[in-house]
Amino acid sequence: MFDLDRFIADCRDAVNADPSHKSVREIVARAVSDPAAVLAGLGAPVHAGVDKLYNGPDLTILNVIWGPRMTIMPHNHLIWAVIGVYTGREDNIFWRRVPAGGRIEAAGAKSLGERDAEPLGRDIIHSVTNPVSRLTGAIHVYGGDFFAVSRSEWDPETLAEGRYDLAKNMRLFEEANTARPRA
Ligand SMILES: [Fe+2]
Repeated sequence: MFDLDRFIADCRDAVNADPSHKSVREIVARAVSDPAAVLAGLGAPVHAGVDKLYNGPDLTILNVIWGPRMTIMPHNHLIWAVIGVYTGREDNIFWRRVPAGGRIEAAGAKSLGERDAEPLGRDIIHSVTNPVSRLTGAIHVYGGDFFAVSRSEWDPETLAEGRYDLAKNMRLFEEANTARPRA
């Protein structure tokens, strides 16, 4: 059984005891090891969006629902993250900076499916695609206030660095719903 209040309390206790991602990764891994329980606890995804489950200076916990085949451009977080997928799939491309002009190049990839819980270091740059034709659901835990950090995103065509536009990124989720009417 997935108890959201318990999950939030466990994650907060964990970072209080150790500010690294290590114990949070274990908590997220345990949660998504039973995807049906998470679906029962959070409800099955019905539309793309980002639900704040908890947001404080210590942690941010989001229920991220990716629209079918939606892609979000390369960005960094500047705080660690743990991603746990409980339905569908998240394909991550990891990028690294190249010396010239704030640009990046692809450096690796990781495809996350149900039951995967992946830590991302604070300097990671990634882009994310939901490769499947239905909604993907994942719990994202960040080691700080996700909404207060000033960070970067990279134009998906030119790969030039710019300032992360939170409102635009949230709009991408809404646009995914326009393409696919709400259930
Ligand atoms: Fe991200």
